[in-house]
Amino acid sequence: MIKLLDFAKNFLKQADIKPNSVVADFTMGNGYDTLYLASLVPNGKVYAFDVQTDALINTKARLDKAGYKNVILIKDGHENAANYIKEPIDAGMFNLGYLPGSDKSVHTMHESTLKAVKDAIGMLKKGGYIVICVYPGHEEGRIEGEKLLEMLSKYDKKDYCITHFHIINSPDASFIIAIEKYNK
Ligand SMILES: C[S@@+](CC[C@H](N)C(=O)[O-])C[C@H]1O[C@@H](n2cnc3c(N)ncnc32)[C@H](O)[C@@H]1O
Repeated sequence: MIKLLDFAKNFLKQADIKPNSVVADFTMGNGYDTLYLASLVPNGKVYAFDVQTDALINTKARLDKAGYKNVILIKDGHENAANYIKEPIDAGMFNLGYLPGSDKSVHTMHESTLKAVKDAIGMLKKGGYIVICVYPGHEEGRIEGEKLLEMLSKYDKKDYCITHFHIINSPDASFIIAIEKYNK
């Protein structure tokens, strides 16, 4: 079975990410994705956001264990990312929904997610990518996915290639959206 998160991370390999690039993890959770991004930019910077204190504690421990010091951990919603990121980014990741094994009532919400994704696209350098993993198996995730697809389908095809990958025989399964900003 295809692992959609690995598939999403594969897109980032096509982005113009250099060791000194600036990237963002807009939903840090337990820090697995943050650690992956940190490994891509050993001389650069990762901005990582979450609203839960536990996410920052767990991510910091994971990064410390691996010896990464290139991550800025921010306890705030990704909808406020523009207050912290004042430079263009080469890539960004959103892994939406709630943290498995944690409080399921704390999850991403479509209004703030739409703002965060829109702002993240505005920060993206030419040649950059944003990947989004959506979980439509719960009600808010279903709405979040629908609204994201609706919003993103309106971006100009001359400037962006925006793709949607989903499992067609399992409508509730998680799916990926990848946003490429053309390098021109
Ligand atoms: C599926 S988990 C992320 C998994 C994570 N990337 C990892 O590698 O473990 C989704 C996370 O989004 C966080 N979240 C919810 N609302 C948020 C918001 N407005 N801004 C940033 N993070 C948010 C949740 O607290 C949760 O930790």
